[in-house]
Amino acid sequence: MRTLVVGGGGREHALVWKLSQSPKVEALFCAPGNGGIGDIATCVDLEATDVEGLLDLARKERIGLVVVGPESALSAGIVDVFESKGISIFGPRAAGARMETSKIYSKELMERQGIPTAPFKVFEALEEAQRHVRALKPPYVVKADGLCAGKGAYVVKESSEGEKAVKELLADSLFGEAGSRILVEQFLNGIEVSYLAFTDGQSILPMLPSQDHKALLDNDLGPNTGGMGAYTPVPFLDKPMEEEINAAIMQKTVTALRNEGVTYKGVLYAGLMMEGRKPFVLEFNARFGDPETQPILFKMESDLLPILTSCAEGRLDRAGGIAWKGGVSVCVVLASGGYPERPEKGKVIRGLDEVRREKDVFVFHAGTKKVGKEYYTSGGRVLGVTAVGETYRDAIRKVYSAVSCISFEGMQFRKDVGAKALALQSGGGSP
Ligand code: AMP
Ligand code: GLY
Repeated sequence: MRTLVVGGGGREHALVWKLSQSPKVEALFCAPGNGGIGDIATCVDLEATDVEGLLDLARKERIGLVVVGPESALSAGIVDVFESKGISIFGPRAAGARMETSKIYSKELMERQGIPTAPFKVFEALEEAQRHVRALKPPYVVKADGLCAGKGAYVVKESSEGEKAVKELLADSLFGEAGSRILVEQFLNGIEVSYLAFTDGQSILPMLPSQDHKALLDNDLGPNTGGMGAYTPVPFLDKPMEEEINAAIMQKTVTALRNEGVTYKGVLYAGLMMEGRKPFVLEFNARFGDPETQPILFKMESDLLPILTSCAEGRLDRAGGIAWKGGVSVCVVLASGGYPERPEKGKVIRGLDEVRREKDVFVFHAGTKKVGKEYYTSGGRVLGVTAVGETYRDAIRKVYSAVSCISFEGMQFRKDVGAKALALQSGGGSP
């Protein structure tokens, strides 16, 4: 199968890396790709949202399966266009991608269908929203409806912050159209888990649960980012809890969408808050997570290609289960100086050769560019150093030993990725 991966971040490097091991993949393309992806696939300089350009590429290269990484391409309708031309593509259509691009759409669907999520109210008018939050006792959460590059959720802890958040969204239009409608929802207290499942629009095939590290600094301090690290699996999530998530959230959502006329194919990603043993949905994403995909695929034993093609063909029942390697996997993101506000670019990256020799470690590239034999930084999140180990301690030791070999000017990373797993394991609960 000639395969094209759309996107150019760490998630796409993980997808390309995993697909490159499939005996069924004859040729591998990525658009636009990055410095690391170029070492194992043919990179084509097309943006993920250039649907017409990608269609030309797919025809010219006789692509048998397209795998879509970023939500920008999904909401641009890439799946609708490719399916209408009879080209097999993995990902939901634009109507399904609304689960991610409109929080109000997904919350209203959950409310209609009895899928557990925090109670909420929707507002458009400034005055009405201000009146509502003035009467609330913090903590509560104010959220923009649309995509705001991970900055559209305000966890309000002091009364004054609520009105400020509402004003930023509805009066100052900080996020433009994306914040022109907002949600105000109840605060949930618990442990966050990322839960991803493959689906063909009928049944689901869950992946291993994982945990993201969204804040820039250790101990979850500092501004929110796209994700500074992740690990899988999550120690306290036992089989009955996973079964409840699968039945009450993942399968129920896919069925609900189908009942409402949306056949959702691809990855359904639920950002969950576990209140004790009870899961609640914070948000849905319509794609693989980044960086969760890096440790998840690093631990996947099965061939990824047949799973993706069975989803795209609506025949997930043919895929069988997923086999996983034993142990755990941890990914530490190395980010540029100035990230997330103003990431510096163009810095030479050193030490990658040294890490290449390490067993059980792989460095997924995100914002990198290769010039000659050298790799340079070209974005906010630069690398995702990923390791597998028998235990969390073992994987954490391996991953940080690899991180210590790599350097570039201004490099920043969290030193506590995986610490939560150790705390949860020792029964410490929320660290
Ligand atoms: P979201 O974009 O909806 O995933 O929200 C971003 C982050 O805000 C989440 O990862 C949580 O840490 C936090 N958050 C969102 N909704 C809630 C909630 N209802 N209760 C507590 N924290 C929340
Ligand atoms: N890691 C969070 C996301 O992919 O949205």
